[in-house]
Amino acid sequence: MLVLGVESSCDETSVAIVRDGKEVLSNVINSQIKIHEKFGGVVPEVASRNHVYQVSMVFEQAFKDANVKPEDIDLVAVTKGPGLIGSLLVGVNAAKTFALMYNKPIIGVHHLAGHIYANAIEHDMKFPCIALLVSGGNTELIYMEDHFKFEIIGETLDDAVGEAYDKVARVVGLPYPGGPHVDRLAHLGSDTYPLPRVYLEDGSFNFSFSGLKSAVINLHHNAMQRGEEIRINDLCASFQASVTEVLVRKTFKLAEKMNVKNIIVAGGVSANKGLKERFMAENEGRFNISIPSIKYCTDNAAMIGVAGFYQYKTNPKLDDLTLNATASLELE
Ligand code: KG4
Repeated sequence: MLVLGVESSCDETSVAIVRDGKEVLSNVINSQIKIHEKFGGVVPEVASRNHVYQVSMVFEQAFKDANVKPEDIDLVAVTKGPGLIGSLLVGVNAAKTFALMYNKPIIGVHHLAGHIYANAIEHDMKFPCIALLVSGGNTELIYMEDHFKFEIIGETLDDAVGEAYDKVARVVGLPYPGGPHVDRLAHLGSDTYPLPRVYLEDGSFNFSFSGLKSAVINLHHNAMQRGEEIRINDLCASFQASVTEVLVRKTFKLAEKMNVKNIIVAGGVSANKGLKERFMAENEGRFNISIPSIKYCTDNAAMIGVAGFYQYKTNPKLDDLTLNATASLELE
């Protein structure tokens, strides 16, 4: 089954062709990072205009790379939300136009399901599992009993972890998006600044990162006022140590509590080397841990094609041309 995946929820225009939910024949990603870098974050209107410029070329390239014809596609899967509404609309309308032109079935896919199913490309997803979803907009612990059965057990009460990374990066003068830069510098420094580990005392599996973020900002601000030198590498290492300790230990704790052996990590922050290292170091052979390779961690259409395949296999309910984009959407 050949699935055409389309993703445009934020600042990446991406089209992919995936065979049987596994074999990625093409995965073209046009990133707008360079355009938004000078603003220190994604400017929604600029993002949607750039999706419009890019989308036809990205479609064309995806077919060229995969060496398949539009007629060969069996199913179109497109991110329907959540995300920036103007950006989402470009992908959804491009996908619907393709489906109309070639008379192909279409389904709308939840963006976060896409991140989770990025794990099915290089590994086999085993159930039940716990998914730790960490991105620029989300931080969630999800229990999955089987394909497309999502139960959100914990989530952030304030900042998403990627958002905290980006804010800390901005304060210490690193470019947008800051996550990869903080990760790189963290590996050059040591965890020597005393920063809080926020576990929350309510016994829940929720997270909170705004206190940690404020602690870094205050530390930086106070040092600047006193004219003290800030060891940026050490500050990044200390921030990363605090974040990864909480993420990893809470995930293990939930897996133990629910007696689940399989853990998957998903979303842009799953590209973090420190997170991967800590998961491996603290596992001690207890769990099967799956983390996608970096190219499938951040936004891409291959993961939407894969999620679309499993969504259709689980429940072959199609959308029609009334399919619309939605900025806020629950993971059902
Ligand atoms: O999943 P994603 O591509 O977009 C959505 O939010 O849906 O995630 C982007 C986020 C950004 O906040 C970025 O800074 C973060 O993922 N990120 C990282 C790393 N690579 C990307 N954060 C920490 N370490 C990284 N290596």
